[in-house]
Amino acid sequence: MPTSLFRRKAVEACQADADRSEHRLKRSLGVFSLTALGIGAVIGAGIFSSPGTAAAGGGSHVAAGPALVVSYLLVALACGFAALCYAEMASMVPVAGSAYTYAYVTLGEGLAWIIGWDLILEYAVGNVAVAVSWADYFKSLLAGLGLHLPGWLSTTIDHAQKTPGLLESAPHLFGVPIVLNLPAGLIVAVLTVLLVLGIQESARVNTGMVILKLVMVVGFIGVGAFYLRPENWTPFAPNGLHGILSGASLIFFAYIGFDAVSTTAEEANNPQRDIPRAMIATLGICTVLYAAVTLVLTGMVSWRDLGVGDPLAKALQSAGLQALAGILSFGAVVAMTAVLLVFQLGQPRIFMVMARDGLLPPWAARVHPRFRTPYITTILTGVFVGIPAMFVDINEAIEFTNIGTLFAFVLVSVGVIVLRRTDPDRPRPFRCPGVPYLPLLSIVSCGVLMAYLPFITWMRFLVWQVVGVLLYFLYGRRHSRLSASRAEEVTWTPTTNR
Ligand code: ALA
Repeated sequence: MPTSLFRRKAVEACQADADRSEHRLKRSLGVFSLTALGIGAVIGAGIFSSPGTAAAGGGSHVAAGPALVVSYLLVALACGFAALCYAEMASMVPVAGSAYTYAYVTLGEGLAWIIGWDLILEYAVGNVAVAVSWADYFKSLLAGLGLHLPGWLSTTIDHAQKTPGLLESAPHLFGVPIVLNLPAGLIVAVLTVLLVLGIQESARVNTGMVILKLVMVVGFIGVGAFYLRPENWTPFAPNGLHGILSGASLIFFAYIGFDAVSTTAEEANNPQRDIPRAMIATLGICTVLYAAVTLVLTGMVSWRDLGVGDPLAKALQSAGLQALAGILSFGAVVAMTAVLLVFQLGQPRIFMVMARDGLLPPWAARVHPRFRTPYITTILTGVFVGIPAMFVDINEAIEFTNIGTLFAFVLVSVGVIVLRRTDPDRPRPFRCPGVPYLPLLSIVSCGVLMAYLPFITWMRFLVWQVVGVLLYFLYGRRHSRLSASRAEEVTWTPTTNR
């Protein structure tokens, strides 16, 4: 087993890297902006779209029925355990990079690389799913206004094949029909430009969007509460625990994003104090909202009728509230724009930190001299998300995202236990309670959710891991700044250059 797999980066080295002026980002975020950033990442497709399939069943998922509310609460618990682990790590290693950096400090380079590689699933592939869902709501919104995009410009080839007449109506290039989901690609392009222009501007835009979407979600709960038919809640759990956990493995997506807060540690005014607070506040607020939305939703409409992409709008329509359904669709578009923004923001920062460590080529760490943003990786992320978003199926992207994220959560939880033993004296401005039991609960609960994902998702995940391992041995291992052949370049002197 090569020793490179286990070499670990010192916490001081992470800090020193972040402080080197050519890589330094602008610090401008307080706890309010950070929580807004968290909520911006969290409330999105996972509550506006996924409750449909999760409650009614579909694809490989067994119906949870009204007990979907239990799925949301159970997943919140699992994420809560993981958030406390993330919070301890983020407060000890307060630099950008999230789980990747934590793993580099605690578990060694091999696993850190794997986590960084899996975070691409969480951020980039997750955003592919959100962009597709965004495009669906955007199309409904346009349709509500009487505007219709041509079918071939707003769907996937899979869907086009199942829609009679659509392939024939598409333009052909060398005999091949052209079918793409253009709005999904365009929204990613617009956000990429915004992010290259600067974090502060982006955070401000995000705060506005978050307020608007909170109003939408709270509005749905408030209005829907007057249209409840309690008989819809019976049977409460049509498929028992199996349905609840099957739903949970899909709607886990709804909580992804609280950890994105930790990727902005270099842009936070006081990362040690504010990042744990912001993550926990995000999770608490979203759990209460999700539980209320799910109860109201399954109380308004029978769970059997919820198998659609826009279940909340459908519930309002079935109560005869057409105008409110239109407003809600608008809210969903805004909500998902905020999600896209935060993930497009997180991914380049992870690439940047990996490049600083030598595991990716050096150009990926470059920060724009004027805007102080990692512009090259921001643009690359835009391309890697925007192009697949025009061609893939949403549920497969969600399941692929969930498995990668859950695995990263498991590794972070392992990291907390390991670091308490290997580095017990290091200051921990935030301490995860109940170590090692709470991180163990995090590992087990994430493992159960992974076990409920389809076999094909596991296969894709394994292929992804193998490709990642190959890339590490072909590039990262040799170019790592911790590699012996590059030892003379490793200058871990902490600077006061802040
Ligand atoms: N949690 C995010 C969403 O629901 C990814 O869209």
